[in-house]
Formats: sequence, C-alpha cells, structure tokens
Amino acid sequence: MFFVSRKQIMKQKLPEHIAFILDGNGRWAKKRGLPRNMGHYRGAWNLVNIAKECQELGVKYLTVYAFSTENWKRPEAEVNYLMETPVKEINKYLDKIIDSGVKIKFIGLRNRVPKETLELMIKLEKLTDNNKGLNLLVAFDYGSRAEIIEAVKKITHQALRYEIKETEITEELLNKNLFTSNVPDPDLLIRTAGEVRLSNFLLWQLSYSEFYFSKKCFPAFSKRQLLKAINDFQKRKRNYGGLKEAKK
Ligand code: IPE
Ligand code: IPE
Ligand code: MG
Repeated sequence: MFFVSRKQIMKQKLPEHIAFILDGNGRWAKKRGLPRNMGHYRGAWNLVNIAKECQELGVKYLTVYAFSTENWKRPEAEVNYLMETPVKEINKYLDKIIDSGVKIKFIGLRNRVPKETLELMIKLEKLTDNNKGLNLLVAFDYGSRAEIIEAVKKITHQALRYEIKETEITEELLNKNLFTSNVPDPDLLIRTAGEVRLSNFLLWQLSYSEFYFSKKCFPAFSKRQLLKAINDFQKRKRNYGGLKEAKK
C-alpha cells in the first residue's frame, strides 16, 4: 500500500468530473456486527469528507450514486431508512451546507420519492443554486436505462409536434435531454467495495471514462484513497479511439 499526498496530484490533469458508485455500506456494517443502516449512516458522513476533498482539490463535478431504481427491491425498513434519515440529518446542517459553497442537484426519477424527501431535495437545489464550489450531483432513484427512456420520450414528443427533424436527432440532442444535460461526461468512475460492474449507472455518459475499483467499503474509503484513485487516473493514457498522446 503506497500513499499519495495532495502534492502529487497534478493540477493540470485533474479529472473535471468524478462519478462515484458508493457501494459496500451494508458489508462495512456487517463486518463490525452493526445493522446495515449504520453503514448507510456512516457512508453518508463519509460523502461529506469526499465532497470536501474534491472541492479543495478543484474538481468541478462529483456525481454520486446514492439510490438506484433497483434499490426499491430492498427490505421496506432499509428503503424507509434511506428515504427518511437524510431528511432529518440534512435539515440539521442546512446552513453549513449552504456556506460550504457546494451546489447540489439531484438526478433521477422524482415521482416515487416520498413527499418530504422530494421537498428537501428541491429546497437543497434552490438554496445552493448560487453556490460556486463543487457541483454535487446526487443520483437518487436513478437508473441509466430509465434516464435514456425519459430522454427518448422527450425527443419523440418534440418530433411528433414537428419541432425537430429526424436529422436533428444527434448525440448532442440526446445529451441535452438526459438528467445530466450541461454536465461534461465523467473523466473518472470510482466504485468501492470490490464490485466490478456499473449497476445501471450513467451508461451513456461513461462511454470514455476511466474506471477505478477499490476493495474498500465506502464508509472506509478515505481522502487518501481518493487521492490514490486520482493519481492512478493521471497515469492513464486516454485515446478516445484515436492514436493521439494522452489528452489533458
Ligand atoms: C451502497 O451500499 C448504498 C446503497 C446502495 C444505498 P450497499 O447498501 O449496497 O452495501 P452492500 O453492497 O450491501 O455492502
Ligand atoms: C449500486 O449498488 C447502487 C448504489 C450504490 C446506489 P448496489 O449495491 O445496489 O448494486 P448491485 O445490486 O450490487 O449491483
Ligand atoms: Mg451494494
């Protein structure tokens, strides 16, 4: 195990956008003989550390996978915990969140999320809208396939009203109709807890991203681990299908 310090991170090669699958909360808790929900609690607090570090490094976008369209399949008590606890906790720290400079946006479906949770999501987006720090995108009731279907529906409606022609259906147009419109594609994807899959996360947007998998469960994934992932990313050569030298 080697350590990477902030000094070793090259500013000019910083990932502009990091996508993060926060996995392993349950296993982290189980290993310690704690209830799974305690893992979610600690994971949520660890997200604060990771977001702070990203902001201090100068990363512009961090998109975190917090609840998937498939996570509704989990036991009711766990789903309720994930829907309700953040509301209680975040309400206690609203001022701190606003002062942190982080700009929060939620991506995902909105019709299944409980009313109180949705109200808080909208409030957070409004209250942090003028912030100029890290753009934190929280994928909540998010699924990439659902996102693409939603985009296709919006485009179809425009086409049926003759607002767009078939020739205008381009990658840019689809991009514009995704939840992540106006957000550059992630440069780096990190997934914790040893799982090597995407689990329906940003399938379109990750087409040319660099992947980094860590064995650490998310509550134990420290700032140092993040620096290690960025350092690893900075050594990669990105070709985008061509033969050019590594792009910045
Ligand atoms: C990730 O941790 C958080 C969510 C999916 C909400 P998990 O809850 O998936 O933890 P493991 O994978 O069961 O350990
Ligand atoms: C992916 O993790 C979803 C989130 C991290 C929110 P899961 O734990 O739900 O993924 P699978 O089921 O192991 O693929
Ligand atoms: Mg998991």
